[in-house]
Amino acid sequence: MWYNTPITSLLGIQYPILQGPMGGGFSSSKLLAAVSNAGGLGGYGAYTMQPDEIRALAAEIRQLTDKPYNLNLWVSDVDDSLKGYTPEQFQKARAYFKPYFDELGIALPEPDIYIASKFERQVEAMLEIRPAVFSFVFGIPDDTILKECRRLNIKTVGAATTIDEARMLEDAGVEAIVAAGFEAGGHRPSFLRPAKDSLTGTFTLVQQLRRAVRTPIIAAGGIANGRGVAASLMLGADAAQIGTAFMACDESSASQLHRDRIFSPAAKYTTLTNAFTGRLGRGMTNRLSDEFHGLPEDVAPFPLQGRFIAPLRAAAMEQGRADMILFWAGQIATEVKHRKVEALMEELVRETGELLAR
Ligand SMILES: Cc1cc2nc3c(=O)[nH]c(=O)nc-3n(C[C@H](O)[C@H](O)[C@H](O)COP(=O)(O)O)c2cc1C
Repeated sequence: MWYNTPITSLLGIQYPILQGPMGGGFSSSKLLAAVSNAGGLGGYGAYTMQPDEIRALAAEIRQLTDKPYNLNLWVSDVDDSLKGYTPEQFQKARAYFKPYFDELGIALPEPDIYIASKFERQVEAMLEIRPAVFSFVFGIPDDTILKECRRLNIKTVGAATTIDEARMLEDAGVEAIVAAGFEAGGHRPSFLRPAKDSLTGTFTLVQQLRRAVRTPIIAAGGIANGRGVAASLMLGADAAQIGTAFMACDESSASQLHRDRIFSPAAKYTTLTNAFTGRLGRGMTNRLSDEFHGLPEDVAPFPLQGRFIAPLRAAAMEQGRADMILFWAGQIATEVKHRKVEALMEELVRETGELLAR
């Protein structure tokens, strides 16, 4: 059958369909379980979570499914440039945001610039809870971590935005590689060259990686229906990973406002910008992304930039100011149809099967 691929046997799932993990509060155990219970691989983006929260999450997930699932972390979760960040640069970033805070009538924050990475302690929690799959972005974990995953039979999945990143993941012994196309919603997870210079689309990237590596490939970015899944498989991928279309489902943790927005004309335009977090990511175009020019001197390093954006976003939500709220979404948002995981999964499986049987 079309759905038996190296990825389904590697990950122990029925269909080669992965729900993209979404960090920063957009994943939910309900969404993860609905996808895994329907034969795909549910995922949870946990890069902002404390280790104990990850442990509690695992217990919650086990109440909802006994199927395999994917826990996702960011190998690099703090920009190196934050180390040498000066008070002058900080004041410049604050000055950039001041007019927006004034407009919403709220105080300009003084966020702490000493932000520590959580990754190593998150990995300890991950190794304790032993998800079937550990996926990661923005780099490659140390060999000791990858070895420990192998020993515990946790499958490892890394993300590549270029041929060279995929080769490096393969050389490290990672078991599957996400081909992260630039259409995708959320951050651009490049780690060798700057994200702005690694903007290959899914259509090209999947073909490039298919030839460059022997490791199974998961196509991500711009897939929301059976046509996209079938096309990914035809291009040489062994599975498809879908983010925006799953985020639009009621089961996700995205707000009602955000989910409704995906079904609105606002979904026609998305922008890749570092305005919202300090790292390049794709969301629906809004006033902030339009007005932001992304000059290096104006952008605070990740995740500091987000510490300015978070209170702005909270106030904008309260005041109904959609022009200042970032709604993450990929380019395929216009093609999203379903509000329930069950209906989306049913259509993905049926339509892909019909198209590949032609
Ligand atoms: C709001 C949001 C947050 C995301 N966070 C993560 C993350 O933390 N880790 C990760 O590997 N991928 C993350 N992604 C990427 C998705 O897992 C997936 O690969 C991507 O959304 C696929 O492209 P699509 O949006 O066109 O379907 C995120 C995507 C979105 C929309």
